[in-house]
Amino acid sequence: MENIKRLESEVRSYSRSFPVLFQKAKDAFLYDVNGNRYIDFFAGAGTLNYGHNNEYMKKKIIEYIENDGIIHGLDMATVAKDNLLVKLEENIFKPRKLDYKVQFTGATGTNAVEAALKLARMVKKRSNVISFTNGYHGLTMGSMSVTANAYYRDEAFINRSDVSFIPYDGYLGKSINTAGYLRRVLEDNSSGVDIPSAIILETIQAEGGIRVASNKWLREVEKICRDFDILLIVDDIQVGNGRTGTFFSFEQSGITPDIVTISKSFSGFGLPMAVVFFRRELDIWKPGQHTGTFRGNNLAFVSAAVALDYWKDDRFSKDIFRKGNYLRERLEKIRDKYPQLKAEVRGRGFMYGMAVSPAPIAREISMECFNNKLVMELAGAKNHVLKILAPLIIPDEVLAEGLDILDTSIGKVLQKH
Ligand SMILES: Cc1ncc(COP(=O)(O)O)c(C=O)c1O
Repeated sequence: MENIKRLESEVRSYSRSFPVLFQKAKDAFLYDVNGNRYIDFFAGAGTLNYGHNNEYMKKKIIEYIENDGIIHGLDMATVAKDNLLVKLEENIFKPRKLDYKVQFTGATGTNAVEAALKLARMVKKRSNVISFTNGYHGLTMGSMSVTANAYYRDEAFINRSDVSFIPYDGYLGKSINTAGYLRRVLEDNSSGVDIPSAIILETIQAEGGIRVASNKWLREVEKICRDFDILLIVDDIQVGNGRTGTFFSFEQSGITPDIVTISKSFSGFGLPMAVVFFRRELDIWKPGQHTGTFRGNNLAFVSAAVALDYWKDDRFSKDIFRKGNYLRERLEKIRDKYPQLKAEVRGRGFMYGMAVSPAPIAREISMECFNNKLVMELAGAKNHVLKILAPLIIPDEVLAEGLDILDTSIGKVLQKH
């Protein structure tokens, strides 16, 4: 830990929230160098939906390396890529009647967002893009321009124009329909909001504080896109890959985005990989126009293909919903037990947050959880939302144990106040 503090830049962040030296991890557990076991309610910020060192994926990866499978191949055609694409078509696209093409971008989520924005602007030949309050889409320049939080935006000192921010669902209170506002500003050529090439949104704003858009609002935004010839980009980087109970987070709303960005848990194993899916007609890219050395990651293709086996039928999905219901019930009980926190439980599927007040108490609670061997992060502009993002494969008894720790940690923190 001392070496890390001395040598790693001040930009480091999670090693501050969880100040121990981690050594091993398996399924829903992390272990530090002293052999302490931690329950993981963070799952690599949504990257480890299938758990740490998932046994099925690990076997395939080891086998692949032992057979000298291609590890790096730029974006050459490889057997691993071929297998993944076929599995994607069979297990994900076809059952959902999606006719998407797949673009492998640079390995991080933000690169997929960059590609999506570029493509939308190229297709529609319009510079403006609409994004939403509290949205988070990554921190390279294009992605940052559609990210709302000033903490990230302020450090850039660049031109962040060509983006209009609109209030997200619920931003102005329950009674104000912000999709109506969006339609109004687009209808009115004197509103100052240019017709955009695309509207980019998260169906649940994860970093923004687990803010859930209603299905009705999502459908209205989709209709606006159709009426004004605007492309709809859903950024499913954090809440896709089964986090909401279905593979894509937008499935339950019935909308069909033109473009979808996916990363984090797509590789299944925590290996870096990002992709963009888009309607076949939008594929106007010329060869290598959005290129990059690490475009596609063959080892990640291997584990991703195993991850897609979880979606062969609806058993995994049903299990996520079952666990999600339990999680919600437990969080509501905790909310009712500690009325002083004025807690609000937010989320759906297997993604929940508990907004507490006053805001700084959230950090105290997450620290106390950590002292009791539970890793749990915060979200929201004021870091006041306890974010529960356990691996989807977490066994029931481990989930219950983690929630017990959360419950008693809150009790302990409140005793001090
Ligand atoms: C919705 C969303 N989009 C984009 C990103 C950026 O992904 P990355 O950190 O891999 O660049 C994130 C990361 O948290 C995210 O949650």
